[in-house]
Amino acid sequence: MILVFLGPPGAGKGTQCKALVDRYHWCHLSSGDILRRERKEGTELGRQAQSYMDSGKLVPDDLIVSMMMKELTKAADKGFILDGFPRTQGQAEELDKALRKQNKGINIVLNLEVDDTRLEQRVTGRRTCPGCGTAYHIIFNPPRQDNVCDKDGQPLVQRPDDTAEVVRNRIQAYHQQTAPLISYYGKQNLVQNIDGNAAIDDVTESMFRILDGFTA
Ligand code: AP5
Repeated sequence: MILVFLGPPGAGKGTQCKALVDRYHWCHLSSGDILRRERKEGTELGRQAQSYMDSGKLVPDDLIVSMMMKELTKAADKGFILDGFPRTQGQAEELDKALRKQNKGINIVLNLEVDDTRLEQRVTGRRTCPGCGTAYHIIFNPPRQDNVCDKDGQPLVQRPDDTAEVVRNRIQAYHQQTAPLISYYGKQNLVQNIDGNAAIDDVTESMFRILDGFTA
């Protein structure tokens, strides 16, 4: 299974990917998480990506494509979910080319639709565990104890790009550069839309209904 997850910043892609991994045991390849790991490790790629991420712009295609191609090679024998990649038509074309070389193709594109008016609140209220990566929300999905991860007890942190100002740039980048992929994949009959405005568990159920049928 090769699944591409599309959706604006804060739509719930990372949250829903955790549920998909628990149920179907696919690999979760999140370009944002990989970039954050590179930054934490102080690599050259992390250094180059930093200013783009902090201002809410997309990191240039050449850097992203070579990073993701390495990840695809590692996951070659497994099913995987691509979360946050591709994000431009150039990235999508490079992905198609790489998969074709391996006689593979994308099986499904899930497009998580959320109204812009909800995104800023979702993003600015997000708190993440620096240990296990679990994302919470101060209102919609709070941890049992204030600001402490339920799973490993670590204090939660806020991503530096989760400010109101930066999220507006991220939403703009999404509409200009990523949303056109919905029609790119639509022409290949791969897209299933999901209403991401619903509560977290309801969104998960909608995805399972589609994917259980697909994997049966
Ligand atoms: P990335 O990390 O990919 O960020 P993003 O796409 O902006 O997505 P988010 O992680 O913000 O949101 P999400 O949809 O995963 O939401 P979540 O589930 O956490 O990218 C960061 C940066 O890296 C980019 O800006 C760019 O610079 C760079 N980058 C990455 N990939 C790139 C690429 N391919 N090309 C170029 N540059 C790239 O949920 C959000 C919050 O809402 C949480 O608090 C959650 O608890 C809550 N929530 C989730 N679902 C619901 C719900 N249904 N109801 C209520 N609350 C909910």
